[in-house]
Amino acid sequence: MPGIVIVGTQWGDEAKGKITDFLAEKADCVVRYNGGANAGHTVVVDGKKYAFHLLPSGVLHSKKLYIGNGVVVDPEVLTQEVEMVRREGFEPDLHISDRAHVVFGFHRILDGLQEKLKGDLRAGTTKMGIGPVYSDKAARYGIRVVDLLDEDVLRWKLDLLVNLQQKVMSQVYNENVSLDRNEILKESLDFGRTISDWVCDVSIEINNALDNGETVIFEGAQGTMLDLDHGLYPYGSSSSTIAGGACTGVGVGPNRIDKVIGVTKAYTSRVGTGPVPTELQDEVGERLRRVGHEYGTTTGRPRRCGWLDLVPVRYSARLSGITELVVTKLDVLSGIDPLKICTHYKCSGKIVDHVPASLKLFQMCKPVYEELEGWQDSVDWHKVALEGYDGLPEQAKTYLARIEELVKVPIGLVSVGPERRDTIVISG
Ligand code: IMP
Repeated sequence: MPGIVIVGTQWGDEAKGKITDFLAEKADCVVRYNGGANAGHTVVVDGKKYAFHLLPSGVLHSKKLYIGNGVVVDPEVLTQEVEMVRREGFEPDLHISDRAHVVFGFHRILDGLQEKLKGDLRAGTTKMGIGPVYSDKAARYGIRVVDLLDEDVLRWKLDLLVNLQQKVMSQVYNENVSLDRNEILKESLDFGRTISDWVCDVSIEINNALDNGETVIFEGAQGTMLDLDHGLYPYGSSSSTIAGGACTGVGVGPNRIDKVIGVTKAYTSRVGTGPVPTELQDEVGERLRRVGHEYGTTTGRPRRCGWLDLVPVRYSARLSGITELVVTKLDVLSGIDPLKICTHYKCSGKIVDHVPASLKLFQMCKPVYEELEGWQDSVDWHKVALEGYDGLPEQAKTYLARIEELVKVPIGLVSVGPERRDTIVISG
């Protein structure tokens, strides 16, 4: 199975980082294809927790790591992250696409200003400058990694970009931010020198790796409901979070993808604004947040939690051609009885079983639930992980079976704890 894409089927934070790390053991390369430092991928090994924002999650297995052209690179975050993993004794074998775009400090400032202006239409962004840098990319005055390696080109492009953003900040937002072009140039050239040995054409390298029969994991960031085109616009992010994003964000053809893994949290969580039909503002929602440690990895914000909603999961399966589901954080549901799964919505008496484009319609959708019996609180999940599927409480097996039936995609892995070893292989 050489080309494996990992996508989030909900609003992000499905524990894709843990699953990527788990699968990376048997892979040769891990490549990020979308998003940037807004992502927070957590990996826990032997009680030690690592949070990655830009480095692909295969780093702890010393695999070849790639940052594709679809990713936006924040020099400050990448530098800190590389230093962090080096302190932990890992030397990342990193390769960065020359076509990836670069995030500057002014993008982060603009992110905050745009959010303020948008009022109720704000997405509650991570303020990492993601929207502004992808906007610059689409407007074609963005700066790419390759530009950091050529002082003349960089000076020429930065002159235009800094000038323009300075004007936007003062004349559109009435913000007196003074950008020091020379300082930005100097810092960018320094960063360019630091990463110059890592810069390459990632598309060539990944296609070669696949030609040589190597296994490549395409690690998605965020989730389907945050996709720029198919997510809950405008309450999403600015990149392509679905499996198609792996092709455009790395430079491989769709025929290089052999397997698409949809990571699904056993309940719903959302960090940011916008409607979440199954959100619970009661003690069950509070319990899911507390037991599931549902606080943003990038921002520390409390996540909004609720019952598992299978409408986005089915939507994600359709958009990404998901071949296998991975259900995560099943352990968090222990002690909640009954459990509920949203199978579809009802809107003005009509059944809605997909995610509509109209935000107004989505806001009116009321979840229709199926109730399932829960299991007791006192499960020894490390033991269950050792025993495998047979060790799961019967009610948990029924819960999983119902997900498979309703999404019509088989479950290959189940995660029952944050540790790498708390993972049950069902098939594959
Ligand atoms: P941005 O990506 O920072 O522009 O944020 C846009 C929306 O996506 C906001 O609602 C964020 O909270 C959400 N978002 C961005 N990255 C993640 C993530 O990795 N996990 C969950 N939500 C995210």
